[in-house]
Amino acid sequence: MNTYAVIMAGGRGERLWPASTYSRPKPLLPLAPGGRSLIRATSDRVMPLVGAEGVRVVTDEGLAPAVAGELGLALEQLIVEPEGRNTAPAVGLAAAVLMAQDPDALMIVLPADHLVEDEEEFRCVLQAGVEAAQKGHLVTLGVRPSFPATGYGYIRRGERLAEAADRQVFRAERFVEKPDSRTAQAYLDDGRYSWNAGIFVWRAARLLEEARGHLPGLAGVLQEVMRGADPRDVWGEVESISIDYGIMEKASDVAVIPVDMGWSDVGDWHAVWQSMPRDEAEVASMGRHIGEETRRTLVWASPNRTVATLGVEDLVIVDTPEALLICDRGQTQGVRDLARRARPELPDWAELRKVDADGMLDAVRSFPAQCREALAAGVEIDLPIQLSGFDRILCVGMGGSGIAGDVLGRLVDAPVHTCRGYDIPEWLGPDALLIAVSYSGNTEETLSAFSQGLRRTRRAIGLCSGGELAELCNAKGVPCVQIPQGYQPRAALGHLVFTLLPALERLGAQVVDVTHALSVLEDLATELSPDTAGNEAQRLALALHRRVPLVYGAHGSTEVAAMRWKTQINENAKQPAFWDALPELCHNEIVGYELAGQLMPQSAAVFLRSPFDHPRITKRIELVNRAARDRGHASLEVWGRGDDPIAQLLSLLYMGDWVSVYLALLNAVDPTPVGPIEDLKRALGGSES
Ligand code: F6R
Repeated sequence: MNTYAVIMAGGRGERLWPASTYSRPKPLLPLAPGGRSLIRATSDRVMPLVGAEGVRVVTDEGLAPAVAGELGLALEQLIVEPEGRNTAPAVGLAAAVLMAQDPDALMIVLPADHLVEDEEEFRCVLQAGVEAAQKGHLVTLGVRPSFPATGYGYIRRGERLAEAADRQVFRAERFVEKPDSRTAQAYLDDGRYSWNAGIFVWRAARLLEEARGHLPGLAGVLQEVMRGADPRDVWGEVESISIDYGIMEKASDVAVIPVDMGWSDVGDWHAVWQSMPRDEAEVASMGRHIGEETRRTLVWASPNRTVATLGVEDLVIVDTPEALLICDRGQTQGVRDLARRARPELPDWAELRKVDADGMLDAVRSFPAQCREALAAGVEIDLPIQLSGFDRILCVGMGGSGIAGDVLGRLVDAPVHTCRGYDIPEWLGPDALLIAVSYSGNTEETLSAFSQGLRRTRRAIGLCSGGELAELCNAKGVPCVQIPQGYQPRAALGHLVFTLLPALERLGAQVVDVTHALSVLEDLATELSPDTAGNEAQRLALALHRRVPLVYGAHGSTEVAAMRWKTQINENAKQPAFWDALPELCHNEIVGYELAGQLMPQSAAVFLRSPFDHPRITKRIELVNRAARDRGHASLEVWGRGDDPIAQLLSLLYMGDWVSVYLALLNAVDPTPVGPIEDLKRALGGSES
């Protein structure tokens, strides 16, 4: 029977606000010994029992990338809940997913954000739990109470059922909700009560059997998941209910194993203070603290911030880039209400959308359709056969047109170089195919490079919607592929890339099959459109709002998407953004993190991720992301979609387009006009685009 550790990481730990945030919640905070995150410590603690492959994490879509990065998990180790619905559905989903793979699966369920001092004892008790669960019990660990806590539920034990691995196993007679202080004292005096730590052991099949009896609605949904349904398609009406209330209180054969293991749920700042090393004045601090006459206080300073205190007692001070909390140490339970009040209101996208006067959202939405239209148009284009036989391609183009060359480079098997400037590279000779890409046809750098190139090779094509490039091609007898007018260049990427594909194929180039990628883009068009409220692109835009994104891709894989994110955020959202690629950035940019917290406190690293990345790139991303976070950087991970590298690349690129437009709306700017680009072109005396 295989044993799995199912770590529950759906909670957002609002009582630890403002350190715990939506994108970096409590399980990811470095609250465990050695500066490890709580979830890492949880995983380390249980790994000796189940091995690295036995770890599973149940989380939501928003948190999945960060959790996977933190623990270095493979995708199949993540069990992603479409939407948090309390613990019963989360545990049930894990049971269903495990059952579908391994009908004998035995699961140890653990919250991701607790601390345990005596890890040896913890594992011994779990071993006893595993033995009892193998016999069919639903086992729960009962933590021996050390004070009359009102913040935990309690379990009353009944008769002794068995002994397993030298531990007494009792019948769990009663589960009770959080008591008032008198009742809590009575429980403590009674001696039969333990705290309910939310740690369970059972066979997945047993849990599902109980779900069928007590939560038939959920059980029906889980049945469909086991038959292969995507949880996202069936989650709809699943009831939000806790595992205690929904199953444990009603199930038969529930056992409890009492344990004393120095457990804490580090549920509020007071508990954090208790769990941290403290000096002789009982001051616990994280980050840089200078204190005089400061007692019994917790200070939490972000990297690169200094908190100084003088003559204060019994406080909690938490200073982060988002907010500063100063709280009486006796009132830390109330922080959750403050956190909720401080939470930014979700934007009214319909209202914000009014700034999109020229319809950039619609343009982005129709990108997949544009790609298909362009492919169809390309089939009709007949290029002279004399162009064939080229050994490489040079695309000359700037901005939104220039990037078409980079994308093209991923779609044809010939070497494709891009030239973004006035002068062509020395190597250009008669065997190379020269393509000038300029949507307007009036970009002076492109015209200059193209004219130079025509003196070196007769294999040349112009790609534009008209303008001087069309005239030049005409005058020189060079084929000119004309694409539809009326777009912003950057919104015509589908035409700029896909029109040429069939034509190049006929000239003998090997071209990648984009069928799957286009259907992935079509799904994304629906998923990320404003009709799907709270979609991933909107969430990413909210996370990046008022920040400077540093977008990171991987060489030869996602770097073109990173570049496109940067340029789209610049042009649509009218804000700074930068891009770089791994592994190169591991040889320079990461050193800059030392001072980034001070010099660019508002920056946010965005890692574009693809399962097709080189395994060492995957490892590097995890390490760089951790380094970024440890230095107080905000960071996000965005996973591509689809089953081949091109679908991954294009989906990431397309997500960036959506994010850039949503950011524009949050910035209250019309995404379409690019006044500064046009002004500069005018000031230079060239033509306008
Ligand atoms: C505007 C845009 C710009 C242009 C660039 C070159 O939407 O994306 O980056 O693409 O100024 O102009 P064209 O594409 O006309 O050669």
